[in-house]
Amino acid sequence: MSFESLVENLQMALLVLLMLLLSAAASGEEGAFVGVNIGTDLSDMPSPTQVVALLKTQNIRHVRLYDADRAMLQALANTGIQVTVSVPNDQLLGIGQSNATAANWVARNVVAHIPGTNITAVAVGSEILTALPNAAPVLVSALRFIQSALVASNLDSKIKVSTPHSSSIILDSFPPSQAFFNRSWDPIMVQLLKFLQSTGSPFMLNVYPYYDYMQSNGVIPLDYALFRPLPPNKEAVDSNTLLHYTNVFDAVIDAAYFAMSYLNFTNIPIVVLESGWPSKGDSSEPDATVENANTYNSNLIRHVLNNTGTPKHPGTSVSTYIYELYNEDARSGALSEKNWGLFDANGVPVYVLRLTDSGTVFANDTTNQTYCVARDGADPKMLQAALDWACGPGRVNCSLLLQGKSCYEPDNVAAHATYAFNLYYQMMNKAPGSCFFNGVATITTTNPSHGTCIFPGSNGVNSTFINGTSLAPSQNSSSAASSPYVHNDGAWTIMVTVGALLLAAAIL
Ligand SMILES: *[C@@H]1O[C@H](CO)[C@@H](O)[C@H](O)[C@H]1NC(C)=O
Ligand SMILES: *[C@@H]1O[C@H](CO)[C@@H](O)[C@H](O)[C@H]1NC(C)=O
Ligand SMILES: *[C@@H]1O[C@H](CO)[C@@H](O)[C@H](O)[C@H]1NC(C)=O
Ligand SMILES: *[C@@H]1O[C@H](CO)[C@@H](O)[C@H](O)[C@H]1NC(C)=O
Ligand SMILES: *[C@@H]1O[C@H](CO)[C@@H](O)[C@H](O)[C@H]1NC(C)=O
Ligand SMILES: *[C@@H]1O[C@H](CO)[C@@H](O)[C@H](O)[C@H]1NC(C)=O
Ligand SMILES: *[C@@H]1O[C@H](CO)[C@@H](O)[C@H](O)[C@H]1NC(C)=O
Ligand SMILES: *[C@@H]1O[C@H](CO)[C@@H](O)[C@H](O)[C@H]1NC(C)=O
Ligand SMILES: *[C@@H]1O[C@H](CO)[C@@H](O)[C@H](O)[C@H]1NC(C)=O
Ligand SMILES: *[C@@H]1O[C@H](CO)[C@@H](O)[C@H](O)[C@H]1NC(C)=O
Ligand SMILES: *[C@@H]1O[C@H](CO)[C@@H](O)[C@H](O)[C@H]1NC(C)=O
Repeated sequence: MSFESLVENLQMALLVLLMLLLSAAASGEEGAFVGVNIGTDLSDMPSPTQVVALLKTQNIRHVRLYDADRAMLQALANTGIQVTVSVPNDQLLGIGQSNATAANWVARNVVAHIPGTNITAVAVGSEILTALPNAAPVLVSALRFIQSALVASNLDSKIKVSTPHSSSIILDSFPPSQAFFNRSWDPIMVQLLKFLQSTGSPFMLNVYPYYDYMQSNGVIPLDYALFRPLPPNKEAVDSNTLLHYTNVFDAVIDAAYFAMSYLNFTNIPIVVLESGWPSKGDSSEPDATVENANTYNSNLIRHVLNNTGTPKHPGTSVSTYIYELYNEDARSGALSEKNWGLFDANGVPVYVLRLTDSGTVFANDTTNQTYCVARDGADPKMLQAALDWACGPGRVNCSLLLQGKSCYEPDNVAAHATYAFNLYYQMMNKAPGSCFFNGVATITTTNPSHGTCIFPGSNGVNSTFINGTSLAPSQNSSSAASSPYVHNDGAWTIMVTVGALLLAAAIL
């Protein structure tokens, strides 16, 4: 090959590469989204207008309804919010047995609201195979009938039809490469997958690492369920594929991909229609806590929005709807059943998600409501040295720590160090590494203010509307960046927030 043709070939290759990258970027525009399920089993259900107001202030752009409530669909009109409506389980038999009933359902619940309300999917039934097995034989007919009604209205290209499954239909789900669907359902599953493939619809899956964890009798570590980093020896490795799994969520999704490919379907995308973690439970549910719920959902949202994909399909986005918007206090069952929500009936957050740099979902995130405090149990001598540094070379104004001033009490090194560390951290605009202090400091979302000692950061604006997507805040630390009290390797020091966990997940 001559030099010229080599160059030409290289140019050609580069051009092709560039085009591939561009088209990837274009499809990335519709990368994964995070939506929210709206259950309505509340004793004091907010009105549709109130619901939509909350969605708007939180910048929630995708919702799933458990029915096709007319008032709710009307309230969602002209908001740009994309809506998945559902055929409730009690209507499935009728629809699966009658094309006319299905057509009527679509006319009343979909066509009537288009185009004002942006309905983008119909979820036909909910976990039918496990929750309502006697309707299973007509499940695929129900999907086909709904689909043909959409075709008749020329809406099939805009609206996808699918049906959400419990992940319990996937057996032997670890290692994922050995997973398969419960064979009792194979005849139905094959028909269903054929339908999804031919209509370009996603496989809808409900993924609940909380239940997997609860039912595992200690086999699944809590950290693995919560997307927290694991020591390498605890990491789950699929011995067939050698893929490393750092969280249950990815493992379940890959198990679904493998179960589909076992039936020879390899190109059906997955949408997670429900996933979440309860913030409260009874004595038998000790891990249903606000902290765990916040950790799970914050990590989940970041994981999804980053389009990290799964070990089997890295970079393939798996859009996910959080379960759920409101705590459904009127639900029966265990206490946790009533506590999956992000908000209470008044729209007050149950906890504030930790979503630094996650884009523009959930306006009420608390990115800026973080504080830098002395680490529990830190060596007092190291704390004193760090305190001296902060109030000296660190140029923190420590005057309120003087006797008689508002932050003097309690007069101990940990409390004083906390005050100084936090001021420094706020002064540095929470730059990466600015809450390090030789390892004796840590970031928290709990406001350490007490009495008249008000910590900076605690009186900030509540509605931190994060508009950037960069992973780490500005790297411009201070001139003090070379001090042992300031850590210099960027995002890794904000371990308390969740980003680094995902970095770790993606690297492994
Ligand atoms: C509805 O959602 C689709 C899918 O993202 C989008 O392309 C379309 O512009 C939206 N339509 C309206 C009216 O908002
Ligand atoms: C169902 O009804 C649609 C019209 O809504 C029609 O186009 C289609 O052929 C019918 N399908 C069956 C299986 O009867
Ligand atoms: C598979 O599904 C059948 C039918 O619902 C059920 O009886 C059986 O328990 C399931 N098998 C497993 C291992 O879950
Ligand atoms: C999948 O395809 C393989 C190879 O074509 C075939 O041997 C196998 O029977 C197929 N499995 C199913 C469940 O259709
Ligand atoms: C330090 O803080 C105190 C109390 O807030 C204030 O009165 C004083 O002016 C500050 N000193 C400097 C140098 O900013
Ligand atoms: C921020 O929100 C919390 C509760 O959501 C509230 O108690 C607090 O007063 C708010 N702070 C400001 C400055 O709005
Ligand atoms: C944040 O939440 C509070 C309630 O805690 C609410 O009053 C406020 O309007 C919200 N702000 C935004 C921008 O969502
Ligand atoms: C949050 O903090 C960043 C710097 O860390 C700052 O640029 C941004 O303006 C703050 N946002 C709000 C709403 O205070
Ligand atoms: C977020 O960014 C978009 C586009 O860059 C801009 O139009 C919008 O006003 C920004 N929102 C806020 C709250 O800064
Ligand atoms: C970072 O530092 C450089 C040089 O000191 C300065 O020009 C730039 O504006 C800073 N950037 C930010 C975001 O503070
Ligand atoms: C986001 O995805 C990229 C690759 O697509 C990966 O390198 C990075 O570590 C991910 N970040 C997080 C926080 O998961």
